[in-house]
Amino acid sequence: MAPIPQGGTVAVTGSAGFIGGWVVRLLLDEGYRVRACVRDTSDDSKTGFLKAMPGYASGRLTLHSANLDDAGCFDEIFKGCQGVAHLSHVSTYDDQDYVKKVCDHIINSVNLSETVNRVVVTSSIAAVISEQDIQELVRRPVLYEDRYPDEQNPKRTPERGQGYSMGKVLAERAFSDAAEASGRWDAITCCPGDNLGPILSPHQKNGGPWQHNIETMLLGEYTQNVIGAYRAWFTVDVRDTAEAHIRMLESVNVVNGERFIAWSTDTRNVEDICASIDRLLPEVGFAGAELVDPLPEKVQAKEAMFRAIWGGCELRNDRIRETLDMEFRPLDVSIRDCVESLLTVAGVEPVRRTAT
Ligand SMILES: NC(=O)c1ccc[n+]([C@@H]2O[C@H](COP(=O)([O-])OP(=O)(O)OC[C@H]3O[C@@H](n4cnc5c(N)ncnc54)[C@H](OP(=O)(O)O)[C@@H]3O)[C@@H](O)[C@H]2O)c1
Repeated sequence: MAPIPQGGTVAVTGSAGFIGGWVVRLLLDEGYRVRACVRDTSDDSKTGFLKAMPGYASGRLTLHSANLDDAGCFDEIFKGCQGVAHLSHVSTYDDQDYVKKVCDHIINSVNLSETVNRVVVTSSIAAVISEQDIQELVRRPVLYEDRYPDEQNPKRTPERGQGYSMGKVLAERAFSDAAEASGRWDAITCCPGDNLGPILSPHQKNGGPWQHNIETMLLGEYTQNVIGAYRAWFTVDVRDTAEAHIRMLESVNVVNGERFIAWSTDTRNVEDICASIDRLLPEVGFAGAELVDPLPEKVQAKEAMFRAIWGGCELRNDRIRETLDMEFRPLDVSIRDCVESLLTVAGVEPVRRTAT
């Protein structure tokens, strides 16, 4: 199938979000026309930053209200678009029938459009690494695109916290199967790591959860990583994730069903992330923060084992670097810019050392 043409029109679902907002901004910077899909265009607390983009004044950026839960809501929006970047969350990941249904809403609108060549589906590293049995990471420690969680594990259920990972894998397959059946468009998957970097709107400080965790550090108390007990953050800069989405839309080297992990392979434990803030920005006078461990006692008892298993994982990004010619920002840059944006964009007031 064809990549999208230079300057073509791209619809972005989840445009008010942390990553979606950056995809909109970079698409505009690179000369595209953008249809930003949000749930409510009139909610300026979420859409004000989009309306402030220069492309909005000229009309190169337009905003559209669409709730994924409503069948047909993208029908008119996608008509005339060559690309779709599907970044939005869904209302729940715990009901797999619902996840399939809302994938079909997007797929049907893509088919109906008769103009869309390529869809980039935003999945997650949860669709690569989220194991119900942590020992599976010992058996298969190389984290790369062809790796999926052990789907045969009978305990891999939404009730045991695997709904997000299951829903993402389901969506990847639903889109690539539908694209193949259509013969007219292709679906490429992006699996981002833990996104850090600057927020563009105050409301984005509450999401992520990674940027929100940085906010809690600045406020004086943060938690151990519960998304993968004691896992170091497997990071990527949000601007690099956004750039990766655009390269997937543009690339002549990708084929339907291909997936790319977007991460820098820089990893850091949460306590070291917190310590980085003062090292990178001593001018802030950040007083430091207290680490709280909310993990159950039986998990805490195995902390050394969890850390060893995560530490034994090998993160790979060869495929995205080679196929899409991607380079990734260092983690220190992402932390610095995240903190500065929390102060300037969201007005976060950090705990500071008292002046001596
Ligand atoms: N952040 C990360 O580190 C990370 C890592 C891996 C994968 N991802 C994936 O990347 C995507 C974007 O993540 P993000 O961090 O940018 O999330 P985010 O800031 O929470 O934004 C997600 C957006 O999804 C929209 N949304 C939620 N339910 C919707 C529905 N029923 N219909 C239409 N829109 C809906 C929301 O729209 P409104 O604001 O308009 O209500 C929201 O702005 C997600 O698919 C996520 O799973 C993120």
